[in-house]
Amino acid sequence: MRPLIAGNWKMNTDLKQGVDLVLALRDLVKGHDSVDCVIAPPFTAIHHLSHLLAGSGIEMCAQDIFWEKSGAYTGEISGEMLVSAGCRHVIIGHSERRQFFGETDETVNKKVLAALRHGLKPIMCVGESLDEREANKTIQTVCSQVKKGLAGLSGTALRDIAVAYEPIWAIGTGRTATPQQAEEVHNSIRGLLYELFDGATVKETRIIYGGSVKGDNIDVLMAQPNIDGALVGGASLKADEFARIVKFQPV
Ligand code: 13P
Repeated sequence: MRPLIAGNWKMNTDLKQGVDLVLALRDLVKGHDSVDCVIAPPFTAIHHLSHLLAGSGIEMCAQDIFWEKSGAYTGEISGEMLVSAGCRHVIIGHSERRQFFGETDETVNKKVLAALRHGLKPIMCVGESLDEREANKTIQTVCSQVKKGLAGLSGTALRDIAVAYEPIWAIGTGRTATPQQAEEVHNSIRGLLYELFDGATVKETRIIYGGSVKGDNIDVLMAQPNIDGALVGGASLKADEFARIVKFQPV
């Protein structure tokens, strides 16, 4: 399956820094078209940077979406707005949004369905806390998030979804899950998807890993059978390091 490497810039970069980063990245990944390469800058940079990405093969992603079409929802951004600004993908339910902004599996589900209605491809994030891992609740927690986040989804719509497994204890900590830890969870997510959806579609569904992915650990992660890409935070802010991740070589 075609790998997906997505850079989540989070709340970083002003417009000039964003432009510099895109221009550098565009050159570094030029012609490397065996991977879907996606960047998720802050909302304020999306429109401008989309123009710079034209013809580069790199696709634009938002970091969030609101499910209503329009109206009195101060501060929110609709799917239609994202599409008109150049987005093709959207990150939904990142653990930082769940932790700091009250996202729940129910709001994640509404956002996933709204994104699909607008033709945006959701990257739906799930992941356990350190306490949950230490209490042996990883698989249970993650599978429950996946099931609730994808409730009401038709079988064929799953094809446009990527599930991002991001253990909270590995985000921004430099403490990556081992390839075996990640593979175990990805394999369980795949198993759950087989229970819920059509097998042919599940085979094509990308399950990507996030949490301290760097140039020096991507190759071993991508060698796992159920790791189909990466959602990269900090390392996506450095053009050369992100390009190295995009050009991974499974070992
Ligand atoms: P880091 O790569 O900085 O650990 O962040 C991961 C992440 O949260 C991507 O969405």
